[in-house]
Amino acid sequence: MLFNKKFKSLYLYSMDEKKFIFKSSSPINHRATWQAPSNIALVKYWGKHGDQLPKNPSFSLTLSKCVTTTTVEFTPRLSKNSSWFSFLFKNKEQVDFHPKIEQFLDRISSYMPGIKFQHMAISSCNSFPHSSGIASSASAMAALALCLMDWEKRLNSKLSDDLFKTKASFLARLGSGSAARSIEGPFTVWGENTIFENSTDLFALPLTSKVHTVFQSFQDTILIIDRGTKKVSSSLGHQLMNGHPFAENRFIQANDNFELLSEIIISGDLDAFIEIVESEALTLHSMMMTSSPRFILMQPNTLIVINKIWDFRSATQLPLCFTLDAGANVHLLYPEAHIPTIKIFIQEELSQYCEAGQFIEDQVGQGAKKL
Ligand code: PMV
Repeated sequence: MLFNKKFKSLYLYSMDEKKFIFKSSSPINHRATWQAPSNIALVKYWGKHGDQLPKNPSFSLTLSKCVTTTTVEFTPRLSKNSSWFSFLFKNKEQVDFHPKIEQFLDRISSYMPGIKFQHMAISSCNSFPHSSGIASSASAMAALALCLMDWEKRLNSKLSDDLFKTKASFLARLGSGSAARSIEGPFTVWGENTIFENSTDLFALPLTSKVHTVFQSFQDTILIIDRGTKKVSSSLGHQLMNGHPFAENRFIQANDNFELLSEIIISGDLDAFIEIVESEALTLHSMMMTSSPRFILMQPNTLIVINKIWDFRSATQLPLCFTLDAGANVHLLYPEAHIPTIKIFIQEELSQYCEAGQFIEDQVGQGAKKL
C-alpha cells in the first residue's frame, strides 16, 4: 500500500509547523460534511511571502449566510496510479477546479501523508449564487480543510478541539490565504502582531476579546456590482506588492490599523470603525492602482455607490460604511438597529447600480459547522 512517495523531510518545518504533521498509513472509509463561511477583511491582507504567509496582520468579519458546504467520501485508493479525487460542484463534474484542488491536496499532504492512500470523492455547493462575483475560495478551502481534519480526527481520537481548528485554519491557508480566517467567528485575526500574544502567520485565531454588542449582530449587505471573474487574480496582486514603491508604508499602516481596530471592536466606537474600514478598502485598491503593472478592479458603479454612501451618511448621520474585496462589489456594513432605514436606501438608491439588481443580505456569523 505504500507508494514510495518521498515526503518533505522534517527539518524543512519550523517547530510550530511540526505539530501539524500527522502520519498514518492505513486507509479508512469515512464520510465528512462541513459548512464553512466566507469572510470579509476589515484590515486587509495584501502582500505575502513563503507558503501563503501574510506580510501584515489582517482582521476579518466572518459571514453567516455566504457559505460553502462540502462532503468528502474517503475510501482506500487502489494504487498510486489510480485517481486521487473526484470533484462535483452542485452535483456536476467540474474539471476546471481540478488543478486548484490537486495543488491544495499536494501541499497539505506533507502534513497528513496518509491522505495519499485515500481516494476522496469531493462534492461541494455554495449558498451564494455562482458567478455573483463573490470569491468562494475562502469558504471552499476552509470547508475542504475541515473535512480533511474530520478524517484525521477519526484516525486520531486524541486530537484536541483546539488543534483540530488551528490545523484546519493552517491547511485552509495553504489553499487560499484568506481561507485561514473562514474557520471561526464572529471575528478572526491572522498574522503575527503585537496585540495578541499567541498570534502567528501560520493560522488565524478567533478574536477572544469581548466584542461590543453593536458588532455582535453587525450587518453586511453585499452589492453585486459585477458578476464577472476578476481580470487580475489575487495571487498576482499579492506578488505585485514585492518591490511596490509604497509596500513598506502600507505594512506599517496595516499594523497600526490592526491595533486600532482591536480596540474599536471592544469599545464600539463606530466613527473610528468607519474611518479605519473605509481607509483599508481604498488603500487596498490604491495598492492595485499603483503597482507595476497597474490595474483597477473597481467599476464606475463602485464609485457611484461609494459616493451615495457618503452622501447618505452625511445626510442621515447613520453609521453606514463600506468595504471592498479584490473586486468591484461593495460590502455595506452597519448595525442591526438600522436595518429598516438602510434597507430602503439600498432598494431605492443602490440596487439600480447592481448587476441584475442583485445584492445579498448577510451578517456576522459564528464560524464553520459540522453537518
Ligand atoms: O486569499 P487570497 O490569497 O485570495 O487573498 C485575498 C486578499 C483580499 O481578499 C483582497 C484581502 C483579504 O484580506 O481578504
